[in-house]
Order: sequence, then C-alpha cells, then structure tokens
Amino acid sequence: MIATRSPGNTPLDPDELDGLIPDLSLKRDLDEFERKNILDGYNWALSPRRLRFRDPLTEPYVRQLHRRMFDQTWEWVGRYRNSEKKIGVLVHEIRSSIPVLLGDAQYWHANKTYAIDEVAVRVHNRLVWIHPFPNGNGSHARLLADVVAVKYGSIPLTWGRIDIAAIGPAREAYLAALRIADNNEFQGLLAFARASMVHSRVSPASWHLRFPFKKPAGRIFALGPTVP
Ligand SMILES: Nc1ncnc2c1ncn2[C@@H]1O[C@H](COP(=O)(O)OP(=O)(O)OP(=O)(O)O)[C@@H](O)[C@H]1O
Ligand SMILES: [Mg+2]
Repeated sequence: MIATRSPGNTPLDPDELDGLIPDLSLKRDLDEFERKNILDGYNWALSPRRLRFRDPLTEPYVRQLHRRMFDQTWEWVGRYRNSEKKIGVLVHEIRSSIPVLLGDAQYWHANKTYAIDEVAVRVHNRLVWIHPFPNGNGSHARLLADVVAVKYGSIPLTWGRIDIAAIGPAREAYLAALRIADNNEFQGLLAFARASMVHSRVSPASWHLRFPFKKPAGRIFALGPTVP
C-alpha cells in the first residue's frame, strides 16, 4: 500500500527516522509508541521520592529527563542536537544557553521574582526556544515545567488537558501562546498551561494519555488566541 499524507498513515520524515529504535514507518505508530515511553518518563519524574531528592534546574537533569522519556524510542536520547533546525538557537549556542536558562530560573525561584507557575512556564518557553534536542523538545519541556511546578510547591500544569501533540485548535492555541511568550508576554501561555480543557479534535477521553495523574474537571471551554 502506498502511504499518503492522510491522517493516520503519514510516513515518518527523515528527522523522525534518524536513530529510531523500533521498526516503524508511520507517524501514527510512532506517536503511539512514543506516548508509552513518555508516560514512563512522567512516572519517573513525578515520583515523590525523585521530586524530593532531585533538582530539575540542573543541566544533567535536563538531559536525563529527555533520556527517561524517549529511551525506548531514539538512540540519541539525552544528547543535544548537532544540526541546525528551523526553530531553536544555533547548535554551538545550545551548551551555553541551557546553563543561562537554569541559572535564571534558580534566581527567579530563590528571589520569588515570579509565582511558581510562571517560573515553570518561562522555563518551558525558553527551553523550546533553545530547542536543544533533535526531537521531543515540546513534550520534554512540558514535563520539565510540570516538574518545576510540583517541586516548588504547585501542582502539575494541565496544558489544556488534551493531547496537544495532535494537530488541532488546541495545538494551534498552544503554539500561538508560545509565540506571544517569545515576546516576553506570558499571560496567554500561563492561562493555556492552567486551562481545564481546550477544544480539540482529539477526543477528551484521550486526555489521560497526556496527563495521567489528574481527572478532568468535566467542563469544556475554548481558550487561547486561535481557538474559535
Ligand atoms: N512557532 C513556534 N514557536 C515556538 N515554539 C514552537 C513553535 N513551533 C514549535 N514549537 C515548539 O516546538 C515543539 C515541537 O518540537 P519537537 O518536535 O522537537 O517536540 P515534540 O515533543 O516531538 O513535539 P510535540 O510538541 O508535537 O509533542 C512544540 O511542541 C513547541 O513547544
Ligand atoms: Mg517531534
């Protein structure tokens, strides 16, 4: 059968095939495989013991978290990218950008510059802006933000409580909020990251795949700049 670009049988692009461990050729299958691996990462990172003893605002933790989320999926996990992307800083700037971000976040936390959730969301935004890994940057930076929030006394962010990796209005709202945050305006991203549930073509029943620890509030509402 010839793979087409219709949803469900989109072939993997070269980026996704590079270092892929399982023998997969379709995006749908990779998404499903990845999701299970990511859930392992959630369980690892949000275990109370690990939260207590690990500091997420350190460079080894950032790479280890990526490894824990994708170790079954890609061979290069936990290593920074060595090729330029359409998004992200230049390759040679990654190694210096990460410690600067983590130092800033430690300062924000120690000096209560921002509320805990805002520290988490700012870390998320700066990290996807840096785009340190060849893939998995969005999911990784979302979980890192959750870990930062919980570690410093808040609860995990919701990210709309839907699967924002899937194409749809909720992902558009997330990306729009990120672009606004790129200009140092964080209220939209904060609201999205704390939203109860954002309209999406993805069934709300799949919310637990993205967010396994909390039940949805049951109220569905539209939020974010691009949601109709
Ligand atoms: N225009 C943009 N502005 C800011 N950030 C963006 C933009 N486009 C994408 N991103 C970020 O990059 C991420 C996608 O990068 P990547 O494919 O490495 O991550 P992923 O975890 O595999 O993807 P996903 O978020 O779909 O699960 C998005 O989730 C988002 O966080
Ligand atoms: Mg990706």
